Amino acid sequence: MGKGYYISKHMATAAMVLAAIALVTIIALSVVYNREKSRNAAKFTNSTTSPVPPTPKTSNEPWDKYRLPDTLTPQYYNVTLWPRLVMNANGTYIFTGNSGVMFTCVKTTDLILIHSNKLNLTLFKGHHAKLTGVSGVTAPAIKTTWFQTETQYLVIQLEGKLKPGKSYWLYTELRGELADDLKGFYRSEYMEDGEKKIIAISQMQATYARKAFPCFDEPGMKAVFHITLIHDLGTTALSNSQEIKTENVQIDGTAVTRTIFEPTKRMSTYLVAFLVSDFTYISAADDKGVLVRIWARRKAIEDGQGDYALRITQPILEFFEKYYNTSYPLSKSDQIALPDFESGAMENWGLVTYRETALLYDPKTSANGNKQRIATVVSHELAHMWFGNLVTVKWWNDLWLNEGFASYVEYLGADHAEPTWNIKDQIILYDLQRAFSVDSLTSSHPLSRKEEEVNTPSEISEMFSTISYSKGAAVLKMLSEFLTEPVFAKGLSNYLNQFAFGSSVYSDLWDHLQKAVDQTPGLKLPYSVHEIMNRWILQMGFPVVTIDTRTGNVSQKHFLLEKDAVVDRKSEFNYEWFVPIKWMKRDQVQDQLWLLQKSAIHKPMKVSKSEWVLANLHVSGYFRVNYDLGNWERLLSQLESNHQVIPVVNRAQILDDAFNLARASIINITLALRTTKYLTHEREYIPWEAALRNLNYFFQLFGRSEVYGALQAYLKKQVKPLFEHFGTISSNWTTVPSGHTDQFTQIIALSLACSTGVEGCRELTKSWFKRWMQNHHVNVIHPNLRSTVYCDAIAAGGAEEWNFGWQMFQKATVAAEAVKLRSALACTKVPWLLNRYLQYTMNPEKIRKQDAASTIGYINSNIIGQPLAWDFFRANYFYFFKVYGTGSFTFSRLIGDITSRFSTPFELSQLKQFKKDNAEIGFGSGTQALQQAIEKTTAKIKWLAENKEPVLQWFTSESE
Ligand SMILES: *[C@@H]1O[C@H](CO)[C@@H](O)[C@H](O)[C@H]1NC(C)=O
Ligand SMILES: *[C@@H]1O[C@H](CO)[C@@H](O)[C@H](O)[C@H]1NC(C)=O
Ligand SMILES: *[C@@H]1O[C@H](CO)[C@@H](O)[C@H](O)[C@H]1NC(C)=O
Ligand SMILES: *[C@@H]1O[C@H](CO)[C@@H](O)[C@H](O)[C@H]1NC(C)=O
Repeated sequence: MGKGYYISKHMATAAMVLAAIALVTIIALSVVYNREKSRNAAKFTNSTTSPVPPTPKTSNEPWDKYRLPDTLTPQYYNVTLWPRLVMNANGTYIFTGNSGVMFTCVKTTDLILIHSNKLNLTLFKGHHAKLTGVSGVTAPAIKTTWFQTETQYLVIQLEGKLKPGKSYWLYTELRGELADDLKGFYRSEYMEDGEKKIIAISQMQATYARKAFPCFDEPGMKAVFHITLIHDLGTTALSNSQEIKTENVQIDGTAVTRTIFEPTKRMSTYLVAFLVSDFTYISAADDKGVLVRIWARRKAIEDGQGDYALRITQPILEFFEKYYNTSYPLSKSDQIALPDFESGAMENWGLVTYRETALLYDPKTSANGNKQRIATVVSHELAHMWFGNLVTVKWWNDLWLNEGFASYVEYLGADHAEPTWNIKDQIILYDLQRAFSVDSLTSSHPLSRKEEEVNTPSEISEMFSTISYSKGAAVLKMLSEFLTEPVFAKGLSNYLNQFAFGSSVYSDLWDHLQKAVDQTPGLKLPYSVHEIMNRWILQMGFPVVTIDTRTGNVSQKHFLLEKDAVVDRKSEFNYEWFVPIKWMKRDQVQDQLWLLQKSAIHKPMKVSKSEWVLANLHVSGYFRVNYDLGNWERLLSQLESNHQVIPVVNRAQILDDAFNLARASIINITLALRTTKYLTHEREYIPWEAALRNLNYFFQLFGRSEVYGALQAYLKKQVKPLFEHFGTISSNWTTVPSGHTDQFTQIIALSLACSTGVEGCRELTKSWFKRWMQNHHVNVIHPNLRSTVYCDAIAAGGAEEWNFGWQMFQKATVAAEAVKLRSALACTKVPWLLNRYLQYTMNPEKIRKQDAASTIGYINSNIIGQPLAWDFFRANYFYFFKVYGTGSFTFSRLIGDITSRFSTPFELSQLKQFKKDNAEIGFGSGTQALQQAIEKTTAKIKWLAENKEPVLQWFTSESE
């Protein structure tokens, strides 16, 4: 599954801070919302965060166990499906078809268990399936069949035994609902030229193939699929492999088209895909004859919105062929943009599905960030064509390897397609620091889980977490750095060759990397790859490494965000790691060392009073760094005198480490705040983004206190040079800079300057918006800047601006544009407009149900909207609980967000009262979020008591 749920990542934080400043809205929330909502909608109806994991049944019957027995292995399937794209007489949409599977018996048994969920199967002589022997073998008669709903099996008991080594053919005829539930084979609707269109599409990961046809639905149960689709005349059918025959036939008196596809390679059920639509495509063939096609709505393709994806697909495929040293395993690569696809993207083998914003680029309305998102998501999904699809993890407990890997190499592929972007550095922001923030809580969990701990569909869906994706990426990047890229790639390629078309576990990869190490003279590791890596994947969390440059002492400690947190989870490694540390000194001498125990003296790190040490050079390791005060002081003065001596990503690291060390009460808060002083010289995106994220925490805490004024005045001072810089290089804001990340920094400059009241900023945004209001057919605002400008203008305006924005929102035909407007509408400072907007979230005619929670989130991020949203939520709690409360991640997000600013004893008591008042209704999937909110608020009250005064004093003295 693509990590592409993040929408325009870089815009996110700029907006987040500004939201906190109360004027600008949050794109970030929409990011998270969309992501969680989509995860939830697409694959996780029930309980991503269920506080109490369902305990597996302890029955001894094989059909009560969630894992298939090891008695049968599938060889191939013949699947024919016919989706009906019109409603039938009883008001539903259905698909019909048949499916056969040839399997081989490996252990004698008189029982067949095959996954089947929500399918109606035709009865043959009273049984749900027909069984025959293959090549002269006689199959035993069926005794009885039934559905075991809890474990989602069709259970077939036989009169006699199946014999080892013999193969059988199990045939079913099926009828299923083509629901709009985004699972299995489902339907999606969209409007084109005023006409409602319906497509049939599939999403099998993780456990929904069984909802399309009966199958052995485990990733390790690979087979070949012969797929045939029956569909209406004038529509096109696609599947994993290339179509070999398309003919028009009569079936049951209906003229239809039948499309037959080449047999697939051996593959997992979760990667099977079908599509029936009237989409069109653009294509290209590479020099090896691999056909590359981009599919989308007719109009989008005609407008050229698929061109960018087509342009980058070939370089990315070529890059991965080289990198993996393995040719692209299939004869074609289809990628489809779906107007109504809730998840980010899905790496179905040969037929990758995307949400439109992750594949379609419209130069006229899409922002630069939309483009980056497309490059990274496409790269992530294409990386899976080998890692994940060609070689698949045996079971979902190793999902982190699959997703962490793709999340790491997506940067390499995107970098190859867009070499001027410097995109590899962004892994610091979007994976490493993102992972740090959840992995520093006591509620985190290790990357890898034991196979027997992951059984039910909801346990499987819990594996799709930030830890799996982002920590997985950060830890694999670290591994690749200490092995060196060529050794890493060599081990990887051997691993892929050995397990091609099969499945593996993570230690198989370690084996091959170890072999590559052994074959590399001169590469010495202190321990084996297994020993080093197991400490990073089998225990949660990460260390903070402390370097005392007075003595050269280097030590490590499990980093926890809360000072007094108690860790319940035991670790066999006692929360110690083998830490590879690259470091440098002011004189540019670079070196590296391994920290292999709790603490050790490393003489070269003892430096004179004029030197400094910077550890975790280029942020290649997954750990935080602290120093003795003297070294901190020297680093700070280096930043102020000549920050360029320190690499860009390390400037971001210093900021992020310092703020988090301060939150954990390891260093003084004023020390952390001082890391932002040099920002007046900073022009790079990554450090600014890191700073904004951390300052956001302050806005949340101090947004309504006397600290706020001083904080804002300080920031105004800090951002002014950046704002002026961009004014100069963009001919007074009439152009955007050519540098890729400079465009992101420009957005930060504009939004931060306007919200802190830098002279000349608001006048600009107001005038642009006014011009649009005067002639709404011509929008002169550059797509990059729209989120900021809309929000700012609506915040500064009144009902007229708001109503215009609302009108434009209702008219918007490009999804990304609609999101920008919907979030900007929450920026108004007029309470009655905010209250009316809140009411709209309960009216699906105004705000679609799926957008309601994120809209409340936007309003909540507005400091004036926040108390209104809290009151509104409490007043309508029953409604929200009913709609979102059970089995929806959205609900826990909503509770988390609505309480995110709470930091006073009064708010804490309100929160506890709320918990008491609604105990009878319950909190569903928000239970844990509510508990966390209470804990976080308690912790913030404590932190504030100690830090508010020094923070106020610091900002006051610095803003003068
Ligand atoms: C979700 O879980 C609830 C309670 O655990 C159950 O009643 C409901 O049927 C489940 N829904 C789906 C779609 O599985
Ligand atoms: C399955 O389909 C393939 C390809 O059409 C065909 O050759 C084979 O005979 C079918 N198997 C069975 C048992 O029908
Ligand atoms: C739905 O309608 C079909 C005819 O289109 C009929 O055969 C079937 O029995 C109906 N199903 C139900 C559950 O009413
Ligand atoms: C399957 O059978 C059940 C029970 O007879 C019926 O309610 C349901 O509508 C059927 N589903 C389809 C897709 O025909």
